[in-house]
Amino acid sequence: MVTTDITPIKVQKSNNLRIKELDYNNITFGKLFSDHMFYADFKNNEWSDAQIVPYGPLLMSPATSALHYGQAIFEGMKAYKNEKAEVFLFRPFDNHKRINISAERMAMATIPQEVFMAGLTQLVDLDRDWVPDTDGSSLYIRPFIVATDEFIGVRPSDNYRFYIITSPAGKYYNEPVKVLVETNYIRAVEGGVGYVKASGNYGRSLFPAKLAQQRGYHQIVWTDARNHRYLEESGTMNLMFVIDDVLITPPLGDTILAGITRDSVLTLARDWKMKVQERKISIDEVVDAHKKGTLEDAFGTGTAATIAQIAQIGFEGKDYILPPAEGRIFSNRVAKELIDIRTGKVPDIHNWMYKVG
Ligand code: COI
Repeated sequence: MVTTDITPIKVQKSNNLRIKELDYNNITFGKLFSDHMFYADFKNNEWSDAQIVPYGPLLMSPATSALHYGQAIFEGMKAYKNEKAEVFLFRPFDNHKRINISAERMAMATIPQEVFMAGLTQLVDLDRDWVPDTDGSSLYIRPFIVATDEFIGVRPSDNYRFYIITSPAGKYYNEPVKVLVETNYIRAVEGGVGYVKASGNYGRSLFPAKLAQQRGYHQIVWTDARNHRYLEESGTMNLMFVIDDVLITPPLGDTILAGITRDSVLTLARDWKMKVQERKISIDEVVDAHKKGTLEDAFGTGTAATIAQIAQIGFEGKDYILPPAEGRIFSNRVAKELIDIRTGKVPDIHNWMYKVG
């Protein structure tokens, strides 16, 4: 990896601040963007020209290779404000590691930790008024890297741009989700790119998700590509079940994203001495547990959604209704604990929070 000193970052402040547009009590995910954005360029084998500029449209050649062949990757992370108005990032070094895993798999330039962290902390510090402090809210941060060669031959680009934009976020889902087990389309396969945050993974999921939505479901549960029996992810989230007091989640591998929320939930469950199993789990096992009354909880985990409880699972024409969300012990406890850690209400024993400024 190339190590580059990109500091000091050139800063051009906006003279048209839009913070007045933010209604802290009514935030829609992903719609409103903070005043500034960061970018840096990879050219001649190094990162340079790091800048913070007013948020705004990009000027790019129509031959930009990312637009044609999908050499584009992203991260999702969040910043939180505590009662003293201090701003913290949640596990930013893990996002940095993961963006480089994505970059390597997609034959893209990796990004040095100092470039990633300098851009991130200075941008969030400058736009700290955009970090909401209302219950369950945060600043969603979207770092992404795109191939920028003006070339439509198919080969890895020589040039890349790394951007960071940010957007105040409230709830991703307004209610417990209804999911449909997908047994036709696939999201990921061994040897593929399901374990990285490649933009194309998300684009390819939209058509099957649209079909599920037309049938009244919020999201799909993806199953293994070979037999469509083993459960993998749900929508953009990792999947977890509590059966007979055991927390079960599919194991990491080529087809599953190494979610940072996933890891945080497993860590807290282990802290609480709960039995945790990272292993394959089939739809038959879930249906069986539902019949026996041992399916206590099911939820998705992700940066955007945090903990999204599953209300109903559709499979082969039947809907399996789960216990009422508000009465579930584990998902409610872990969701609250994550909020409390992030807003400084309980000690951060794993050093997940990174102070900005
Ligand atoms: C995240 O949780 O950060 C995601 O990747 C979901 C996002 C695509 C909205």
